[in-house]
Amino acid sequence: VYLLFSGLIGRSWAMVFAAGGFKVKLYDIAQQQLTSALENIRKQLKELEETGFLKGALGVEQQLALISVCTDLKAAVEGATFIQECTPENLELKRKIFGQLDLIVGDNVILSSSTSCLLPSKLFTGLKHVKQCIVSHPVNPPYFVPLVEIVPHPETDPSTTERTYALMKKIGQSPVKLNREIEGFVLNRLQYAVISEAWRLVGEGVISPTDLDLVMSDGLGMRYAFIGPLETMHLNAEGISNYCDRYREGMRHVLNTFGPVPEFSGETEQKINQAMSEKIPVVPKALDARRKWRDECLAGLAKLKAQMKSD
Ligand code: NAI
Repeated sequence: VYLLFSGLIGRSWAMVFAAGGFKVKLYDIAQQQLTSALENIRKQLKELEETGFLKGALGVEQQLALISVCTDLKAAVEGATFIQECTPENLELKRKIFGQLDLIVGDNVILSSSTSCLLPSKLFTGLKHVKQCIVSHPVNPPYFVPLVEIVPHPETDPSTTERTYALMKKIGQSPVKLNREIEGFVLNRLQYAVISEAWRLVGEGVISPTDLDLVMSDGLGMRYAFIGPLETMHLNAEGISNYCDRYREGMRHVLNTFGPVPEFSGETEQKINQAMSEKIPVVPKALDARRKWRDECLAGLAKLKAQMKSD
């Protein structure tokens, strides 16, 4: 497996693939970036080992030995079977990279993008190797949140989708296949639906920002960590049809009271910003500490989920 670019997501993918026992080659524009990426990966793996959250059957040193670095694109992709692109979210930049790859790769390698929201038709149209191109969108941090959205271009070969799906399974991620591309893919469409109603409720003064967040973290989110919204319906009545019979009218009534798409600016932004900043000041130290705590929680939850599954 070969990874292009070693920023936040590139490094996380490197750790996930190495935990799965795959050889990883990291490519980036500057040696300095690669050196610091390797140092950072080493530090993270050591910490994971100490806290008991290291993934995979191999130890830290064995996993590190699987990761090498390279600053020459042609040499970097030689012999690759799967290339995961992790450049900044910029269409021009990504198209340039895929254009370069298109000229140097063979017919068997998969070209996969980490993009959060650029559509495959924007990224890959016109490439000679479009059949081998796909989006594999991870969730941050991929090491603890295993979902990967696999989104094909209309011309992507089904075998590319299947191979990508199988690889993601093999490294312990949780892939889902989209049958066609759509703005926001699925994860962000669900996320934005939640964010926009949260924004409206706080904006209309129905609830405070911190209480709004509690509705998710101590309410809906508790269930959603184990079962999705559709299974929730199924279990909250005597099956889906019974749920629809009971709640169809009520749901439609409430949904018809939803407001328009928020502006995400002005007074509501100030109100939410003030509440969040009181809890977590917008300075690197405080933000990083809270992210670290979040990741520890996610690591614990990942462990619990694995345990619940094997029970
Ligand atoms: P990042 O900024 O941390 O890393 C970008 C990497 O690209 C760096 O290694 C940098 O050296 C390299 N690079 C190459 N050419 C560059 C140029 N011309 N200018 C600047 N940097 C250049 O970005 P991050 O967060 O790792 O995101 C990478 C991709 O992953 C994006 O497409 C993003 O949408 C996607 N993604 C990010 C998530 C996140 O939460 N950060 C979650 C899921 C996907």
